Amino acid sequence: MDDAITLVPAEPEDALAAAKLWVDAFHDKFLHALGQDPAPALEEWLQCSPGTFAHTTFARRGDDVLGCIQIYTAQEGAQDDVRAIWRIARRRLGLRRAISCMARFWVMDSYRIPKNELYVKTLSVDPAWRGHGIGARLLDYADAEARARGLSVVGLHVITENEGAIRFYERHGYRRSPKQGVWLGRWAADFDGCYKMTKCLTPERRAPHRS
Ligand SMILES: CC(C)(COP(=O)(O)OP(=O)(O)OC[C@H]1O[C@@H](n2cnc3c(N)ncnc32)[C@H](O)[C@@H]1OP(=O)(O)O)[C@@H](O)C(=O)NCCC(=O)NCCS
Repeated sequence: MDDAITLVPAEPEDALAAAKLWVDAFHDKFLHALGQDPAPALEEWLQCSPGTFAHTTFARRGDDVLGCIQIYTAQEGAQDDVRAIWRIARRRLGLRRAISCMARFWVMDSYRIPKNELYVKTLSVDPAWRGHGIGARLLDYADAEARARGLSVVGLHVITENEGAIRFYERHGYRRSPKQGVWLGRWAADFDGCYKMTKCLTPERRAPHRS
């Protein structure tokens, strides 16, 4: 892995960089539901939610943001400011797309994080930098943060169509639960549903003490 790539906390002034990364990473998966150019709406939403950045870590190479992960605990909750998102979506995207956008948020955002879990959101890597181990490094970071906080599980949601990511998570020790969906999602957003995936962390073995 490229030594020049470092994991660093994101700052509120990184809203544009985060929006661009997410558009590149997720456009084909679900951001197309937000229209041709979702970056300005995403950037506006991130600027309205500066608290988001307290949970966001970037993989950076110089000024470039190559990857991102967000982590949350039960105390913090992972809920977005749904009213702010609705206002921005309604104004920028029109009624139908705004409903479609909210339907997707509904499934994943109504999730209550269990007390023993570290919850991962928006794991994403710039398409030009995939296959370089950045995704694996961001998942290792989540494992380490979970252990540091005394948590035994790392969990996330992934949409059912995202087969590449599901395989990636399974290779990294995650197991999936049965599909979750909402009728509103299928009706308004052509959204089949998602899987909850979890990884149980085994306690780290200490090296045997030699005297
Ligand atoms: C899933 C994702 C984060 C993985 O990131 P990544 O940096 O490519 O991950 P890695 O390089 O650690 O591993 C990718 C795997 O695919 C293989 N691969 C090879 N070339 C690749 C390429 N061009 N693109 C993607 N994967 C590639 C790697 O060998 C590796 O296999 P391994 O796990 O058996 O070693 C990334 O593909 C992504 O951003 N996808 C779009 C956003 C998304 O769907 N996120 C998940 C939301 S739940």
